[in-house]
Amino acid sequence: ARLVVLVSGSGTNLQALLDAIAADPEGYGARVVAVGADRDGIAGLERAERAGIPTFVCRVKDHPSREAWDRALAEATAAYEPDLVVSAGFMKIVGKEFLAHYGGRIVNTHPALLPAFPGAHGVRDALAYGVKVTGCTVHFVDDGVDTGPIIAQGVVEVVEEDTEEGESALHERIKEVERELLVDVVGRLARNGYRIEGRKVRIP
Ligand code: GRF
Repeated sequence: ARLVVLVSGSGTNLQALLDAIAADPEGYGARVVAVGADRDGIAGLERAERAGIPTFVCRVKDHPSREAWDRALAEATAAYEPDLVVSAGFMKIVGKEFLAHYGGRIVNTHPALLPAFPGAHGVRDALAYGVKVTGCTVHFVDDGVDTGPIIAQGVVEVVEEDTEEGESALHERIKEVERELLVDVVGRLARNGYRIEGRKVRIP
């Protein structure tokens, strides 16, 4: 399967996919054909360049409207003819046009146990709420924010120190689980195919 991965930051989820593919290029069942970002100068793009993978940047401020940006992102992505789009730390909400192209074929990873703590601050919000466990969710993207059908989740304990040290320590522990979960899910979707039945995802 052909993957386009969308990033906005350090790209460690992207790196986990690249490492898994490099470790078993035939068996994994997917390859990253391009990496897209909503901003320049991020480690995620450097990781792609180091791996010799084409990149594209689609910045909201370069477009007259959000809809124009969304259309440009869809067109830039379409140029690589992906079977699956993987949003791995991509910090923008895709719109109608992008969903029209790729709905049902966009996988997102979120650092909380959805439906709890959706949005851009899932780790901070979970910590502030005082939950004893949190984790990460890999799900299909629909027209809401972090509301699409859930594919897999991983649990991470919250410990006393997290409160003092703040969200970064907890987020790093979540990302360890998240990277494994994403690599496993993307590989299974690519190799086995899948069906989305309402809120259920079936992977044969
Ligand atoms: C991940 O935890 C993702 O769920 C969240 O931001 C983080 C991105 O990490 N949205 P990276 O860019 O993959 O290292």
